[in-house]
Amino acid sequence: MLRTRLCDVLGIEVPLIGAPYGPFDQVELAAAICESGGLGSLGTAVRPVADLRRQWARMRELTDRPFAINHTLRPLNEEAFQATLDERPAAISFHLGVPDDLVERAHDAGILWIQQVMDVQQAEQAVRAGTDVIVAQGGEAGGQGGEVSTVVLVPQVVDIAAGTPVVAAGGIADGRGLAAALVLGAQGVAIGTRLLASVEMNIAAEWKSRIVAAEARDTIKLAHSDRFMPPFSRPDAYGFPRSLRTAFLEDVEAHPERVQPAEAGPRIVEAMLAGRGHEFLPFTGPSAALVHDILPAAEIVRRIVDDAETILHRTAESCTRAAPH
Ligand SMILES: Cc1cc2nc3c(=O)[nH]c(=O)nc-3n(C[C@H](O)[C@H](O)[C@H](O)COP(=O)(O)O)c2cc1C
Repeated sequence: MLRTRLCDVLGIEVPLIGAPYGPFDQVELAAAICESGGLGSLGTAVRPVADLRRQWARMRELTDRPFAINHTLRPLNEEAFQATLDERPAAISFHLGVPDDLVERAHDAGILWIQQVMDVQQAEQAVRAGTDVIVAQGGEAGGQGGEVSTVVLVPQVVDIAAGTPVVAAGGIADGRGLAAALVLGAQGVAIGTRLLASVEMNIAAEWKSRIVAAEARDTIKLAHSDRFMPPFSRPDAYGFPRSLRTAFLEDVEAHPERVQPAEAGPRIVEAMLAGRGHEFLPFTGPSAALVHDILPAAEIVRRIVDDAETILHRTAESCTRAAPH
């Protein structure tokens, strides 16, 4: 079985993290990933704290393995963050900025910190803050992210990580992606888009079918998400969402001035919490083009890890040294 130092740091068996999905209910998927040996994650965005606590209780009924609870700076909900500290998951994962004060609070509570970064400057901040794992997220990621591609960002972050395990995210959907990430110096991968199209993920069947049918160019990076998404909680935070196209998004991008944030924001949050978020904002990356079926999470994890192992062996064997003249 493929193991790396990431497995020792997080107490998992295979070097794969299931991504957090903001407001979407992913308890069954996250638990299935944990039971498959990876690290499952639970998003928190825009959910009331009582709702989150019910999710965490369901999670603990389904697995006693380590999992992560995720927060971001768009926006940071202090009440939900404090509830997370009280819940004491194995790890807190964080995105859209590097908050040293929160890292310290998590460490004081005995919780590991997984920091997602979108550029090398954020990675340097993460190293200074003493985070336990750094996720280098390339701009091809589904959901909110930056602009540097995964294949450029991962080695940059590895070079300055000073021994902190680096995880690659963005565009990774199969064993080839995991093998490539390890060759770039990462200790594992975080996977979002591929795992949305799993049996256990609690999103509309229509969204999963769109992922299976999608071409890489069916996803767009949004320039005007400030017209309908919450503002960032701290000044140096940033992130641009990537999503499958919808009529709503085509409209916002073409005519941002026509969208009224005070009306559109609450309408979309309500749709997300009611399970209709995909009608407006189906966060998805172009790795959807590599997804051809909806499978149980355990099968997805097993195939990715087994295929990566085979590919790494085969590649090492096929790259022979040229004989000296
Ligand atoms: C539906 C969806 C929602 C996401 N929400 C979050 C989130 O709330 N917090 C976070 O840290 N990352 C979030 N992400 C980004 C993932 O953590 C991860 O970086 C990304 O999915 C990796 O790229 P991939 O989609 O190509 O696998 C989200 C991604 C998707 C697809």
